[in-house]
Amino acid sequence: MRILPGDIKTSQLHAYLLGAVSPRPICFASTLDEDGTPNLSPFSFFNIFGAKPPILIFSPARRVRDNTTKHTLENVMRSKELVINVVSYAMVQQMSLSSCEYPAGTNEFLKAGFTPVESSIVKPFRVAESPAQLECRVLQVIETGTEGGAGNLVICELVCLHLNEAVLNEAGQIDPHKIDLVARMGGDFYCRASGDAVFTVPKPNTTLGIGIDALPKAIRTSRILTGNHLGLLGNSSALPIVETITNDERLVELLREYDTHPEALRHALHQYAAELLDKGDVEKAWEVLLSDSDEGKELMG
Ligand SMILES: Cc1cc2nc3c(=O)[nH]c(=O)nc-3n(C[C@H](O)[C@H](O)[C@H](O)COP(=O)(O)O)c2cc1C
Repeated sequence: MRILPGDIKTSQLHAYLLGAVSPRPICFASTLDEDGTPNLSPFSFFNIFGAKPPILIFSPARRVRDNTTKHTLENVMRSKELVINVVSYAMVQQMSLSSCEYPAGTNEFLKAGFTPVESSIVKPFRVAESPAQLECRVLQVIETGTEGGAGNLVICELVCLHLNEAVLNEAGQIDPHKIDLVARMGGDFYCRASGDAVFTVPKPNTTLGIGIDALPKAIRTSRILTGNHLGLLGNSSALPIVETITNDERLVELLREYDTHPEALRHALHQYAAELLDKGDVEKAWEVLLSDSDEGKELMG
């Protein structure tokens, strides 16, 4: 499918964009209206853009439906300050409730049942239930258009960060399972960034990975190893030299069983290596892959 933005209705494009650029973190923005009434609204057009200075941007967009603007935008344009609260799973239903279009002057802390806490530097309240609350000043607002669906980039500078220590691990870092954040996807979908959904990828810039192009051809073109498997192998800092005869029973068994069937042996070795890579055992996967004599030979030049 090939879509040019002008060829479909804005609402349809909006839906595709929300589904494709996903999941998105949620800025739960706390502001005050001109009478001092608190306003709370979620925005998933949101991210962090630097740490020195610490910059965050979110976008209360013009409604596609009727081209009206949001109370949050009016409030930050006038007062130039807000608190961005992150949203944990425990808060998701109440957060969603606060996105209802209550009339101006409605206290959305009361409507959504959240607890307001005074901020240290800015006037808007923090949300007590949120595990990370970011007091911010507004540096600039950039309108990206004037029609329904246009964004308003609210560029914010963090002035004070409040963290609930319960979300930290022993090393003092934020533990994703403890902070248990949610993110917005397309339609009514959200995702929960903890439990089985969370996984690690070894950072590639600690050593320079050899790259997938440097892998032996039979590995690179394997019909069993996936892009993720090749990525793990290509992240090795050098092609390993496997000199020792292995004492791995399964490997010895495979080498014996398929001694005279090179194609079947390669298939079995790649399958075994794939299992090892899925468990993160890159070293052993190399050993298995390079026990195939052709690949071993290619490696030794
Ligand atoms: C999880 C979530 C994310 C949202 N993200 C955005 C967004 O990025 N931009 C936007 O304009 N509206 C977004 N909305 C809709 C606004 O929250 C909604 O229009 C709200 O009523 C605005 O409130 P306000 O007029 O008090 O500012 C989102 C709603 C939810 C539930």
